[in-house]
Amino acid sequence: MTTAADRNLTWHDHATGREDIEELNNHKGATIWFTGLSGSGKSTVANYVSRMLHARGIRTAILDGDNIRQGLNSDLGFSPEDRTENIRRIGEVSRLFTSFGIINLVAFISPYTADRNRAREIQNDGDFVEVFVDAPLAVAEDRDPKGLYKKARAGIIPSFTGISAPYEVPKSPEVHLHTDLQSPEESAVEVIRVLEKMGIVPGE
Ligand code: ADX
Repeated sequence: MTTAADRNLTWHDHATGREDIEELNNHKGATIWFTGLSGSGKSTVANYVSRMLHARGIRTAILDGDNIRQGLNSDLGFSPEDRTENIRRIGEVSRLFTSFGIINLVAFISPYTADRNRAREIQNDGDFVEVFVDAPLAVAEDRDPKGLYKKARAGIIPSFTGISAPYEVPKSPEVHLHTDLQSPEESAVEVIRVLEKMGIVPGE
């Protein structure tokens, strides 16, 4: 790949930097990266976390695969290459949100370890919190909130994660939720406790 200098690009630092915004907000910016099967509860838990933090005066944003794929990433499908590009773009977007002092809650299946690691590596240590939203396939399939597992089993949807496409389990996430055993609210509280311990948000 060519360097930025090769392409006549110069990096501009902004007049109001991240520290200024974080001081104003009284919390840090960070990416909270939820990964797991479709139907595991990523969006549900992310929304609980968002609501709870918002009630404490903390600025949040949610980036959700189903939504982003209808806009920014509407050109991408579900081949391995397209999923990798999907996660690459969202990794970059979430880095921007972090630098703007926002707690961004990112809910994508993100099935490949290498893609998740790349999203982590472009951020500073401590700015990226991986949350494995773990539910057994049988539980996610039983929930089937969008009726997609049924279609995948019937062969109507090809390359469906967990059925006919892989999901690589995170090896050392900062948070490991078990949404078959915990309520969404309990899961959200567990995530927030970790954010407090990491000094991203102040304790209550
Ligand atoms: S990812 O694999 O590239 O990270 P992403 O989170 O953006 O996936 O999108 C997943 C959502 O797309 C699912 O929750 C589901 O609603 C929908 N979807 C449609 N086709 C598929 C498929 N083949 N595999 C997984 N999810 C799919």
